[in-house]
Amino acid sequence: MASTLKGRSFLTLFDCSTAEIEHLLELAEKLKQMKKAGEKHQYCKGKNIALIFEKTSTRTRCAFEVAAADLGMCSTYLDSKSSQMGKKESVRDTARVLGSMYDGIEYRGFEHEIVEKLAAYSGVPVWNGLTNEFHPTQVLADMLTIKEHFGSLAGRHLVYYGDARYNMGDSLMVGCTKMGMHYTVCAPEKYFPSGDLVDRCMNIAKRTGAVIDFMEDPYEAAKGADVIYTDVWVSMGEPDEIWEERIHDLVPYRVTEEIMAAAGPNAVFMHCLPSFHDLETEIGRSMHEKYGIDCMEVVDSVFESKASLVFQEAENRMHTIKAIMAATLGGK
Ligand code: CP
Ligand code: NVA
Repeated sequence: MASTLKGRSFLTLFDCSTAEIEHLLELAEKLKQMKKAGEKHQYCKGKNIALIFEKTSTRTRCAFEVAAADLGMCSTYLDSKSSQMGKKESVRDTARVLGSMYDGIEYRGFEHEIVEKLAAYSGVPVWNGLTNEFHPTQVLADMLTIKEHFGSLAGRHLVYYGDARYNMGDSLMVGCTKMGMHYTVCAPEKYFPSGDLVDRCMNIAKRTGAVIDFMEDPYEAAKGADVIYTDVWVSMGEPDEIWEERIHDLVPYRVTEEIMAAAGPNAVFMHCLPSFHDLETEIGRSMHEKYGIDCMEVVDSVFESKASLVFQEAENRMHTIKAIMAATLGGK
């Protein structure tokens, strides 16, 4: 299986077959065990990777840097202020320069076409660390977390609350489809994903047995769910002016104890993070002052509850990103 991923990019989960995703999850499990046991796994020793971040990051950047070091690689971090890309040099030229020096490139930024261009012109594997449209390394970590908790993926029911038209909603729909899961969007209709993406997933679902559906009632949607998932209401790169509209539209879709109760005692809570679950952030405090709310997409008591897998999920970013790099660089 490893040979089918060698030399390939990882831009969306559409790029991988179900068997390849299963392989990456098994490899991540193995790498996680090795890390915990203190066993060396420098499968990519001597290689070099470039990490381009046009948006901010805690988990993704740290996961790539730690995973690279564990695999025996060196990494170079480039942000939009300290590199020429975009402003003084085209993406196509940057891709050709970096591809001549590095064995792999990670990109986090804006339009998905940018990461596609890097992959088309660099000649080395390119990994999508988040674009406006997709966040596939996050969803691989989510799948590992669900598998660890429930023992399997096929048939599991994940309900996504919030803006389901952006990177997290889109990528979870693709991931759940590929893994034969039940994916429910729960949001006002204007936040449903695009028809084209839904059609593409529905086609794959015929083969994998996945179910995709759309609901507007937050309590009905929760019934029987294994995973209740949410994300921030305004994503990086979106204008501050839309907070008011999002708060108005999405407060009824905030994950509360009542929604968790409707899902049942075995349901878990997941979130890609970062999360506005209290007043310990600048934005959280500013929204509290303006709109009088203490939290946004999830209440603190659910975030901090036993049902919350958010920190296991965050740790799994590193193990899954390591698996993606090892497999595509040919180390495993
Ligand atoms: N979940 C995630 O991508 O986190 P960062 O923005 O901190 O990388
Ligand atoms: N939708 C969020 C995900 C952060 C990991 C964003 O793009 O900001």
